[in-house]
Amino acid sequence: MSVIETKDLRKQYGSVEALKGVTLQVEPGQIYGLLGHNGAGKSTMVKILLGIVKKTDGDAYLLGSEVGTTDIRKKVGYLPEDHQFPGYHTGVSLLHFYGELYGMSRPDRIKRMDEALDIVGLKKRAKSKIKTYSKGMKQRLGIAQAFFHDPEVIFLDEPTDGVDPAGRREIRELLQTLKGEGRTIFVNTHLLAEVEMMADRVAFIHQGELVRQGTVAEITRRANRFEIGLEKGTPFPVQEVRDAGFKVEMAEGKAEVELADGQSIDPVLEMLWANGLKLRHLVEQKLTLEDVFMKLVEGSNPGGKKGVRVARPVAARRID
Ligand SMILES: Nc1ncnc2c1ncn2[C@@H]1O[C@H](COP(=O)(O)OP(=O)(O)OP(=O)(O)O)[C@@H](O)[C@H]1O
Ligand SMILES: [Mg+2]
Repeated sequence: MSVIETKDLRKQYGSVEALKGVTLQVEPGQIYGLLGHNGAGKSTMVKILLGIVKKTDGDAYLLGSEVGTTDIRKKVGYLPEDHQFPGYHTGVSLLHFYGELYGMSRPDRIKRMDEALDIVGLKKRAKSKIKTYSKGMKQRLGIAQAFFHDPEVIFLDEPTDGVDPAGRREIRELLQTLKGEGRTIFVNTHLLAEVEMMADRVAFIHQGELVRQGTVAEITRRANRFEIGLEKGTPFPVQEVRDAGFKVEMAEGKAEVELADGQSIDPVLEMLWANGLKLRHLVEQKLTLEDVFMKLVEGSNPGGKKGVRVARPVAARRID
C-alpha cells in the first residue's frame, strides 16, 4: 500500500488554479521531495493531504484512507512552513503541548521527551525559552514536534528555510535518522541542491502541474556525455574517433564525447586501448536537479533564465 496517493488532484482558490491535476504516489520508508518555485502549489498539496484545505476535485489518500478522516491524524506529523511557536514556551513545554494535542498521556510524553530532544540535539537547551533559540534550533524543535507522537508519516514544509549550511546538514542527518526508524518523510522545498542530497524520490511541480518525477539518480543521470583524459603529453585521436561516428570536442586537454541514442562509449575506449593509449580519466557527466528543473520550466517561464545549462562533471566512474 502506498503511504500517499493522489489522482488528478485539483485545487482552485477563486480564480487561481493552485493544483491542475496532480497524480503521485509515495511508498513507505522513503524521503520524498516535492520541489518547485514559490507559488508552485507545494504547500497546497500538503495541506490537502493533511485535511487542512479541501480539494476541488480528484482523489487523495493518506495511509489508505481518504484525506480528511480524523482517525489517521495520530499517524501523521506536520511541520508547517513559517511556523511561529510561542516564544514563552520552552522546548519541553512545547513538546508536552503538542503531544497532548495528539492524545499522548503524560507518562508517555515524559518517557519520550529525552529521546526526542536527544535526536534533534536540543537536550541542553530544552528548558530555555523558545524566544532565545536560533533559527536552526527552532526548526529542529519543529521537527521534534512533528515526530514526537511516533507518526508513520511526517510532512515537513520547507524544513531548512532560513537555516545556515551547518544547520541544514544537521537537519538532513536528522531526516535520515527518522527514515532509519522506518518513517516516510514528505518534504516540500524550493532548495533543490538540498533535496538532491537527501531525497530518494522527487517530483517537480510547476504552476500546479507535476512536470517530472523519479529517483534523484534517474533524473540527474546523463549517460550520453563522457569526459576522457589520456596520459600527459599524449594527444587524443580526435579525428579517428570522429571518423568512427562519435561527436568529440576538446576542452582543457580532455576530450568530451557525446553519444547519440543507441551509441555506447565502449567502442571509443576499445579504440584507445587498441592504439596503446593510456587512459587516465573517465567521467560520466551528471546534471544537478537544478539543471534539469530549469530546463523543464524554461519554455513556460517567460521571465525565467534562458540558454543552455552547463553540465557539472561528477566523478561517477573515475579511474585516475
Ligand atoms: N488561501 C489561499 N487563497 C488564495 N490563493 C492561495 C491560497 N493559498 C495559496 N494560494 C495560491 O495558490 C498558489 C500555490 O500556493 P502554495 O502556497 O501552494 O505554493 P508553494 O509552492 O507552497 O509556494 P512557496 O514556495 O512560496 O511556499 C499560489 O498562486 C498562491 O498564491
Ligand atoms: Mg509553500
